[in-house]
Amino acid sequence: MAPGVQFTLFQLLLTLFLILDLVKKGGAGITSTFTRSQWQSFDIPLDNKVFAIPTGYNAPQQVRITQGDYDGKAVIISWVTADEPGPSKVQYGTSEKKYDLSADGKVTNYTFYNYKSGYIHHCLVDGLEYETKYYYKIGLSASSREFWFQTPPKIDPDSPFTFGIIGDLGQTYNSLSTLEHYMQSGGQTVLFVGDLSYADRYQYNDVGIRWDSWGRFTERSTAYQPWIWSAGNHEIEYMPDVGEVIPFKSYLHRYSTPYLASRSNNPLWYAIRRASAHIIVLSSYSPHVKYTPQWQWLRDELKRVDRKKTPWLIVVMHVPIYNSNQAHFMEGESIRVVFERWFVHYRVDFIFAGHVHAYERSYRISNIRYNVSSGDRYPVPDRSAPVYVTVGDGGNQEGLAGRFWDPQPEYSAFREASYGHSTLEIKNRTHSFLHWHRNDDGQRVPADSVVFLNRHWASNLRRRKLKKNHLKARGEINF
Ligand SMILES: *[C@@H]1O[C@H](CO)[C@@H](O)[C@H](O)[C@H]1NC(C)=O
Ligand SMILES: *[C@@H]1O[C@H](CO)[C@@H](O)[C@H](O)[C@H]1NC(C)=O
Ligand SMILES: *[C@@H]1O[C@H](CO)[C@@H](O)[C@H](O)[C@H]1NC(C)=O
Ligand SMILES: [Fe+2]
Repeated sequence: MAPGVQFTLFQLLLTLFLILDLVKKGGAGITSTFTRSQWQSFDIPLDNKVFAIPTGYNAPQQVRITQGDYDGKAVIISWVTADEPGPSKVQYGTSEKKYDLSADGKVTNYTFYNYKSGYIHHCLVDGLEYETKYYYKIGLSASSREFWFQTPPKIDPDSPFTFGIIGDLGQTYNSLSTLEHYMQSGGQTVLFVGDLSYADRYQYNDVGIRWDSWGRFTERSTAYQPWIWSAGNHEIEYMPDVGEVIPFKSYLHRYSTPYLASRSNNPLWYAIRRASAHIIVLSSYSPHVKYTPQWQWLRDELKRVDRKKTPWLIVVMHVPIYNSNQAHFMEGESIRVVFERWFVHYRVDFIFAGHVHAYERSYRISNIRYNVSSGDRYPVPDRSAPVYVTVGDGGNQEGLAGRFWDPQPEYSAFREASYGHSTLEIKNRTHSFLHWHRNDDGQRVPADSVVFLNRHWASNLRRRKLKKNHLKARGEINF
């Protein structure tokens, strides 16, 4: 190619870039240009101390708790013993070292290829008091281990509560950074938006081994506060080449959910109420079209939501519905077409998802007018619609999803590809604060912080005010 032609091409490209840049600046959303520093995205070696196996014969490891009932007066405590089943007993009480109560659980085990799991214990501890610190002990004599947790305040519209939102965590140095930052955040319970260990990136017996290491890795938080689980694609583990064809086999053996308490027939979808929030967990990878069990359950569960008791309605699922990243673009469509209309009708406050390894927050928008014979296929501002938040940036070995669609779609309010976690600080029935913390900044500097008014208690009030002041909805749609 002649040098003159090259020069012209270069000029043409430059002009194009300048035009694109102008178009970008026309949009309302923010694409953060923050340049991250990051740890390399490989898994921490198994001999690292973050995976240390507790000492002593048959010592309990991978200790974790989750909510055990509908209203927060029970926990399910789970752990693994390596040498023999041993007791599934939890001793507990309200003062340290004094365990006047006990509960008995169940033990299970499974194989995956030639890997044989340890003995996995699940013990329901119920009849707890609200807002109380409990101490608990598991295992026998010299190998026993002690932990504690705090129960939530009672179900009340003004019970304050702080949830952490973590997704796609994995077990790299970035994952460790996310976990450590979260643990300084003041979060009281984690809403985990799926993709836990990334053990399925391994082969043969290493799959099971990496599930075990992840259980020990996360214990620093999961033993002391409930993590509310939802399943992602990395939990499916459909691996016919090694003879493993039962979806979610490792996940379902290891992670308990209180699905029966919300009348679900499947641990992959369920609901809990905690403080002032009603939390609905959905499974992106289970049937959800009309008449399927998940569809029927969600229809009925939404009717049970009582915004006078739990004003904050939150949905958790793995695959985002509104995502402007090139990674996993539109993978949430099949769920959107069946459930979005309900989310708008019931005025869901937040939909938290993961899957895309970046952070993104939407405005309140909906695309429910579209049907295959109408032409309205575009999301429009909608005050009854949820805010969609993607927090798939926990730090797994697949790295970040840094390529966003340009220009930023109008529905996207803020997006950035850095590792981090979110917190949702519920203050009372009308106000909550959503923060996103990137790991690079340390805990005290949220990179995105927004005040949200409750869809049930605050939106009517606000609408009246807006009308009075002749304000346009645009630019105010966060609220
Ligand atoms: C579970 O553990 C029992 C007792 O050690 C053992 O006999 C059985 O084979 C194990 N089952 C699986 C599926 O690993
Ligand atoms: C499809 O959308 C059009 C335009 O919004 C509407 O008039 C029509 O009733 C819709 N059809 C169905 C079956 O919902
Ligand atoms: C709710 O919390 C917000 C934010 O902290 C505060 O401004 C507001 O006054 C509170 N409302 C009530 C009724 O306490
Ligand atoms: Fe995923």
